[in-house]
Amino acid sequence: MTKPKPIIICKDIHKHYGEGPTRVEALQGINLEINQGELQMLMGPSGSGKTTLISIIAGILTQSSGECLVNGVDLNHLPDAEKTHYRGKNIGFVFQTFNLIPTLTCEENISVPLVILGTPKPEALERAKELLVEFEMGDKIGVYPTQLSGGQQQRVAIARAMLHDPSIIVCDEPTSFLDVSTGHKIMTLLKNMVTKKGITLIIITHDSRIVGFADRIDYIEDGKLAKR
Ligand SMILES: Nc1ncnc2c1ncn2[C@@H]1O[C@H](COP(=O)(O)OP(=O)(O)O)[C@@H](O)[C@H]1O
Ligand SMILES: [Mg+2]
Repeated sequence: MTKPKPIIICKDIHKHYGEGPTRVEALQGINLEINQGELQMLMGPSGSGKTTLISIIAGILTQSSGECLVNGVDLNHLPDAEKTHYRGKNIGFVFQTFNLIPTLTCEENISVPLVILGTPKPEALERAKELLVEFEMGDKIGVYPTQLSGGQQQRVAIARAMLHDPSIIVCDEPTSFLDVSTGHKIMTLLKNMVTKKGITLIIITHDSRIVGFADRIDYIEDGKLAKR
C-alpha cells in the first residue's frame, strides 16, 4: 500500500464575517488534511461552517488567518488574476441547487468553464457532448435544463464541474434536493470519478443515506472539527 498523499492541508484556519457586534466566528482553528484521490465527506449542523471551509479550500473566500495549501500552493498568496486562473483550472464545483443557466442547452452549460479557460467554443461543445454520452444522457443534447429532472440536472452540473479535468471537485450538499434512488445514482457517478480519474472529491452533506460512499468523514461543529 502506498501512503495516501495529502493534496489539501488546512492549518489552523480561522474565518470571521463582519466586525463589531455583527462579527461571526465561522471557523475557529480548522486543521484538516484531505488525501488525493479520496472521497472526503464533511458533515455537521447547519451554520457550523461547512460552506465557509470549502469556499476557502476552493479559493472563493479568503481565510482571516491560517494557511490552506492546495497542491502545495497557498491560494491566498497568489495575486487575484493567478488565483482565479488556478481555481478555474484545478477545481470544479457542484452546488445543491444545480445552478445551471436556463437559457443554455445542456452541452452549452457544461462547456462554460472550459470556454472561460480559453478553449474554442466548438471544441468545448464537442467535449461536452461526449461527456453527456458518457453520463448516459446522449439523448439530452440540445435540451434545456428546465426540461430535465433534478437528477438529470445534477448530472449536467457534475459534467460541467469536470469537463476541464480538475484535480479537485467540491460538492455542497449535492443530493439534498434529490430522492433516495436518484441521490444514490449521483453518488455512484461521483465515486466512479474518484476511482477512474483519481479526482479528489470533497462532499458536504447532511444526508446520512450517502455516508457509505465516503473514504473519510469529518464533522464540523461551531466552526471546529469535532471528534467522533
Ligand atoms: N456572507 C456571510 N456574512 C455573514 N455571516 C455569514 C456569511 N456566510 C456565512 N455566515 C455565517 O457563518 C456561519 C457558518 O456558515 P456556513 O459556512 O454557511 O455554514 P454551513 O455551510 O455549515 O451551514 C453561520 O453562522 C453563518 O450565518
Ligand atoms: Mg452550507
